[in-house]
Amino acid sequence: MGSLSEIYSRLPDSMDDLPPPPNQEAVAQADYHARHWVSPLTGPLKPGSEAHKRAVAAMFRETFNPYRPSVIDWPKLDPQTLHRIVSLPIWDIAVQTEGKARLRMAAYASLVQDPDMKDAISRNAWEENRHKEVLSKMVAAYDIPMAPEPPYVEPKDVEWAYLVTGFSECVDSFFAFGMFELAKRSGFFPEALTDTFEPIMQEECRHILLFANWLAWQRAVMPWWRRPYFEAKVWAVWAFLAYERMSLARTVDDSGQEHTQDNNFTVTGTKDVANIDITLPDFMDLCLAEDERRFSGYDARLLRPTTAPFLARVIRNTGRAWEFASGIVKANRK
Ligand SMILES: [Fe+2]
Ligand SMILES: [Fe+2]
Repeated sequence: MGSLSEIYSRLPDSMDDLPPPPNQEAVAQADYHARHWVSPLTGPLKPGSEAHKRAVAAMFRETFNPYRPSVIDWPKLDPQTLHRIVSLPIWDIAVQTEGKARLRMAAYASLVQDPDMKDAISRNAWEENRHKEVLSKMVAAYDIPMAPEPPYVEPKDVEWAYLVTGFSECVDSFFAFGMFELAKRSGFFPEALTDTFEPIMQEECRHILLFANWLAWQRAVMPWWRRPYFEAKVWAVWAFLAYERMSLARTVDDSGQEHTQDNNFTVTGTKDVANIDITLPDFMDLCLAEDERRFSGYDARLLRPTTAPFLARVIRNTGRAWEFASGIVKANRK
């Protein structure tokens, strides 16, 4: 475990040695660079090529946002808002997900031979650790009661664990983008708090951009005889995620109190974060629009995750067809 924690707690170019941003302008510039990146190379970036792989690693390195969790100024919340936020059933699972992600990514990075991909995935592990730090600081600032964290166990099948984390992030981030926007519009989160979380949301977009391109690279460079086994594993991961999302995670704390955490919060939590009534098809449209917006600043030659947007379109179209059909039935009854 020692060497893995070294991967996720030490950035290749140690951030602790960097001076903090001198002013607000520097912060805004770092934010801009985290959202916009185009490779100076001309021509296509074909997965499996040296150019594509270098571009993926450069994108991840050059869009790094050097914010520090320790200097985040948590806004003071009025008692009502504080209560709403403290009682969201997500904080345990959020902290534990980051804890697992940093370990799984570090474990996978330690096995990757290619220096460019190793660098990018190690940085991703580091950023997951930073997310965990941000959440820990927030939990402390708002006095959110937490269940004790389970021990983080190094995965036995490192590739499986990395795939589970990567695909989970693809699904969760896609729906979280929509939910975050909804929470912003409804004023559920005060603006100061959404501003604080905004860089983290965008960071997840970079993570899933990296994952989608790593996946394409991995498929392109792996020996042909490994491919069927790998694809079977990918299907098994999706089956596992579908099963996991149908259940709720329960943990019991020191005093015997049960904490119920919703694995599926990013899909089902719209009512919790917004007093706006939004139909499922409209929510899917919002997620699709936000997904598009967050990815729009990155080189169009890099691949984007496609499964969650595809599912969202299916759900939206089915929902619209249902609305249309039930509208006709109602009109005929009158
Ligand atoms: Fe994260
Ligand atoms: Fe992430």
